Amino acid sequence: MPLDMELEAVLRPPALEMKPYPPKVITLANGKKMVVREAKREEVPTLLEAVHPTLFIPRDFYDIVGARLYAELLAWYRYRVRNEYCLVGQIDGYLVGIVNGRMVDEKVGMSYHTLAIDRGLRIGAHLFAAKMEHHIEYLGQSEVLIVAESPIGFRRWMIEYGLEPTEIQHELGGPDSYRLTREMYFDSKPRLVVGDRPAPRDLLDYALENVFVADEETINVKIAGLKGR
Ligand SMILES: CC(C)(COP(=O)(O)OP(=O)(O)OC[C@H]1O[C@@H](n2cnc3c(N)ncnc32)[C@H](O)[C@@H]1OP(=O)(O)O)[C@@H](O)C(=O)NCCC(=O)NCCS
Repeated sequence: MPLDMELEAVLRPPALEMKPYPPKVITLANGKKMVVREAKREEVPTLLEAVHPTLFIPRDFYDIVGARLYAELLAWYRYRVRNEYCLVGQIDGYLVGIVNGRMVDEKVGMSYHTLAIDRGLRIGAHLFAAKMEHHIEYLGQSEVLIVAESPIGFRRWMIEYGLEPTEIQHELGGPDSYRLTREMYFDSKPRLVVGDRPAPRDLLDYALENVFVADEETINVKIAGLKGR
């Protein structure tokens, strides 16, 4: 059924102008090159395919994070959320991690989720850093509000960045937010934010033209060592 665009105009939220995230390439501990780039809205159906298997993996809270990320990406695709962006990590074209967030207003960023589909290489840590880089350096915001939904997330964000607790309710509805300020970001940057720019043209073009999703069994094995589910 064609969309009623008059009604859609009422259902769709207003949108702030958002600066693009310039792509970069990170050389991981195993020598593999991970392209980190902003995803396009049209790519959401492919991203959903990559997230879907995690909905059934309770280990390390992949299920709750996957289910929420799935809904947030769909909301972006269907114009039901304000000012969302999504960054992806790709190795040889394969999606290995996804992060997203949104601008609440010009100054405040809301961090949504970080999902690493391949593990043991700090892919999630690097993508979270890229997300903070986007909020502070490219979207030009003064702070980012963050919560963790897993102990690994808590170690990676609250402890590694020394985030400050607040009494501000986070949009995800759980505990109060922690805050990353511009100062904290620039203090942590030399230690935690890595990658080379400009991304080499051949690597970037390959990543843009070849977005692969590992099959469900491979994702299960990579995330949780579960075989033959
Ligand atoms: C949190 C997360 C993004 C971190 O990603 P990452 O930086 O790439 O880190 P990994 O998940 O690979 O590794 C985390 C730890 O688990 C261990 N680990 C690695 N592979 C593993 C596997 N297959 N199964 C279980 N544990 C594994 C690592 O040794 C690592 O230990 P360390 O903290 O001492 O370094 C990722 O664990 C994830 O997506 N978790 C589920 C969703 C989530 O919790 N998101 C964050 C909350 S919003």
